Amino acid sequence: MSALQDRVVAVTGGAGGIARGIAEAILEAGGRVGLMDLDRAKVEAAASALNAGDRVVGLVADVTDEASTEAALKTLVERMGRLDGLVNNAGIVRLGPADETTAAGLDLELAVNVKGVFLTAQAAARLFTNGGSIVNIASNAGKVGYRNMAGYNASKAAVINLTRSLALEWAERGINVNAVCPGGVATDMLKSVADFLAPRLSQDKDALFQTMYPAQLGRHIQPIEVGRVVAFLLSDAAVIIRGQSINVDGGDTPY
Ligand SMILES: NC(=O)c1ccc[n+]([C@@H]2O[C@H](COP(=O)([O-])OP(=O)(O)OC[C@H]3O[C@@H](n4cnc5c(N)ncnc54)[C@H](O)[C@@H]3O)[C@@H](O)[C@H]2O)c1
Repeated sequence: MSALQDRVVAVTGGAGGIARGIAEAILEAGGRVGLMDLDRAKVEAAASALNAGDRVVGLVADVTDEASTEAALKTLVERMGRLDGLVNNAGIVRLGPADETTAAGLDLELAVNVKGVFLTAQAAARLFTNGGSIVNIASNAGKVGYRNMAGYNASKAAVINLTRSLALEWAERGINVNAVCPGGVATDMLKSVADFLAPRLSQDKDALFQTMYPAQLGRHIQPIEVGRVVAFLLSDAAVIIRGQSINVDGGDTPY
């Protein structure tokens, strides 16, 4: 039997780059997927691009709005009959020097990256059919302080400790909670960082993007490579890995 045979996993930020790889890996492991994102047309297109028929559904949900994520998760349970896992993947980065960060910008970044992760985890945990597993997509920025993303760095550090806390409290309910810390994954988010930095470094943005990969790997990480680690953490084989935040950044972060 495949590692996630017939299990149903919700993936927030489901229309994005890494979500695509996560969904592919869950399908590869025999599971079913509910993609959840802000825009109906985009999330439905992301679902149909996976060519997996009724094993994938696209649902509208804003992780900053508790009612909308709860409604989407309930719809997923109605459509697929159960809920076994959640990947808290939705995230935003707001770039700029720390001393120019505004209260409104910081509120939004923390609302999506921290509060959204927390409240979606609560909603999923209430709906899990028989225990469950949660994987939070943190970042190597939660362990290292990158310039021009102080709010993002802080938000991802919060996700790392939230992961430990939820694992500790929810173990007795049969729920396992872990995180991964990507870096250098070829998606629109990484391109937005290159677009921001290029003029400040007097470089061409496409040329700069091409250099933004883990040194030990010598290339960008692909979403499916992150996805396969996430699928493993969702599976029963990961039961002895609990509350961890595992680097999937090609060796950039050594701790
Ligand atoms: N790309 C990288 O190198 C990298 C590195 C470290 C961590 N990450 C993290 O991986 C995750 C996925 O990033 P990505 O690179 O695929 O980015 P992406 O921009 O391609 O995808 C992010 C998705 O999240 C969605 N989203 C944003 N706000 C939302 C909200 N309020 N509710 C629901 N969905 C929302 C967006 O619409 C988008 O589809 C993020 O949490 C990001 O911080 C990415």
